[in-house]
Amino acid sequence: MTAAMPIDTGASAPAALRPHAEEAFAHELKALAAADDRSRPARWNLSPWAVAMYLLGGVLPDGTVITPKYVGPRRIVEVAVTTLATDRALLLLGVPGTAKTWVSEHLAAAISGDSTLLVQGTAGTPEEAIRYGWNYAELLTHGPSRDALVPSPVMRAMAEGRIARVEELTRIPADVQDTLITILSEKTLPIAELGAETQAVRGFNLIATANDRDRGVNELSSALRRRFNTVVLPLPASAEDEVDIVTRRVEQLGRSLELPAAPEGTDEIRRVVTVFRELRSGVTADGRTKVKSPSGTLSTAEAISVVTNGLALAAHFGDGVLRAPDIAAGIQGAVVRDPAADRVVWQEYLETVVRERDGWKDFYRACREVWSS
Ligand SMILES: Nc1ncnc2c1ncn2[C@@H]1O[C@H](COP(=O)(O)OP(=O)(O)O)[C@@H](O)[C@H]1O
Ligand SMILES: [Mg+2]
Repeated sequence: MTAAMPIDTGASAPAALRPHAEEAFAHELKALAAADDRSRPARWNLSPWAVAMYLLGGVLPDGTVITPKYVGPRRIVEVAVTTLATDRALLLLGVPGTAKTWVSEHLAAAISGDSTLLVQGTAGTPEEAIRYGWNYAELLTHGPSRDALVPSPVMRAMAEGRIARVEELTRIPADVQDTLITILSEKTLPIAELGAETQAVRGFNLIATANDRDRGVNELSSALRRRFNTVVLPLPASAEDEVDIVTRRVEQLGRSLELPAAPEGTDEIRRVVTVFRELRSGVTADGRTKVKSPSGTLSTAEAISVVTNGLALAAHFGDGVLRAPDIAAGIQGAVVRDPAADRVVWQEYLETVVRERDGWKDFYRACREVWSS
């Protein structure tokens, strides 16, 4: 028998592919905590005001720049943060790619310094994922005890007074979702097997996310819905906002993938965003031409990945400058989800809009090339 491999948790561990928000932005959180002289709810690392600044960006008196994480209406962030300081939980609702997961992670990081108390909702999420499970070896040898109990992330958040996160709440079967009712209304989690309970301490709250486009999934029961304040995250209001979001994220992702920065890429980013917005809204930016919308959502998140992939192509197989051919394939892939219907939509858009637009000849040619290949 071979000895178990030690798990390396020391300082020599290689950098994580995707560090948690509280690690990636540790310096910002530290500077905010130092500058923050407003009152903090129990066990919050920051005041609500500082949490909002962490999300929306700003400059501290000492000159530290807080980068904006969320680009959108300030009020949305203020309502979300305020909700978490009350006894109601927060439900972030919106179409895919509107930063629900992203905002939830950053809120938990800023408030609790820990964004990892996370339950991923799927059709197969069992009650134990929300309540607790058992270590069966321990259970069989010593019987049910606190030592044999494996707390869920929600249970840990309750005991430690932190923020728990539940992703894609409406994908969880309705009866499992209802486990949350007692937790959110009574702030306790009964452990029937031990005749005990875990009571939530102050600081505990919960952020859930749900897509309002999900079809065939479980609705929230009205009993559960009443425990939440719902905040709807909108699609970016203007093309400028969306270009700004894509540019920022692409820059961050590019840095972590060690791609060269591509300042000359902004024209292409604008182009991707324009195409996405026109197809999404069904009309060209000048309001003159109607276009058909494809079946996919064409979210900001997809625009980010089209541009990031394009940058990688340019870096590895081009001269590092993002050009039309680098994004053409990605765009077509994002638009044409349903091979039958979406192909017609995309071809029509290419011929009636892209082809006629000033300065878009290179893009038209690149898209035609992908089309016929
Ligand atoms: N308004 C926005 N502000 C900042 N980033 C955004 C915005 N909308 C989308 N994003 C970006 O889109 C990406 C996807 O967001 P995500 O949280 O996974 O979406 P959702 O959970 O709503 O499907 C994230 O990288 C996020 O940075
Ligand atoms: Mg999500």
